[in-house]
Amino acid sequence: MNDYVLRPAEPEDAQALYDFGETLLSESNFLLRSPGERARSADEMGMVIERFKELPNHLLLNAWHGSAVVGEGVVMGGEFVRNRRTGVIGLGILQRHGGKGLGREFLARLEAFGAQVPLHRLELTVMANNERAQKLYEAVGYAVEGTKRDSLYIDDQYVDEIIMSKFLNELESR
Ligand SMILES: CC(C)(COP(=O)(O)OP(=O)(O)OC[C@H]1O[C@@H](n2cnc3c(N)ncnc32)[C@H](O)[C@@H]1OP(=O)(O)O)[C@@H](O)C(=O)NCCC(=O)NCCS
Repeated sequence: MNDYVLRPAEPEDAQALYDFGETLLSESNFLLRSPGERARSADEMGMVIERFKELPNHLLLNAWHGSAVVGEGVVMGGEFVRNRRTGVIGLGILQRHGGKGLGREFLARLEAFGAQVPLHRLELTVMANNERAQKLYEAVGYAVEGTKRDSLYIDDQYVDEIIMSKFLNELESR
């Protein structure tokens, strides 16, 4: 973990984040988006970064290895009064940097951010065939809530998604 720096994205990171996104999406079949569906250019990525910075219950956090982005963790809090204490999270680490503790570290940082907002609930969906990610989420306290049947269509096959969630600051925010 000492080889990595984790920090929130800044507008000047747009090119590095765009490059990272294209590599990540071409490597992994476990993410919702395909290459080109995250941002169509570094400029568009810059707008995404600005948007995350504007919204107080959003966080876009990256892991840097030298001058390259190698991982990302996001929280997107609800945009309305009634769902503003729920955050949807997302996680992606380049294959070459997997198994080094980044996944766990991102989840801890996202929780710390959520607790400070404060968010009450973090939620996510994970593909039913992504056992590695499910194990990680379970290990840090996410509980399975149910299954979205055939919610995705990947390589000519329907894939289920598992819904998982974790409560933060349970007593304080109720
Ligand atoms: C799933 C993912 C986030 C895990 O990140 P990571 O940085 O490799 O995770 P960590 O190194 O923190 O390891 C987390 C756990 O996974 C286990 N693990 C590590 N490498 C593994 C491997 N190759 N296979 C199975 N489990 C593995 C470890 O045992 C670890 O558990 P521990 O902390 O109790 O030892 C990462 O592989 C990834 O981004 N995959 C592609 C995209 C994706 O699936 N995103 C999640 C979508 S919901």
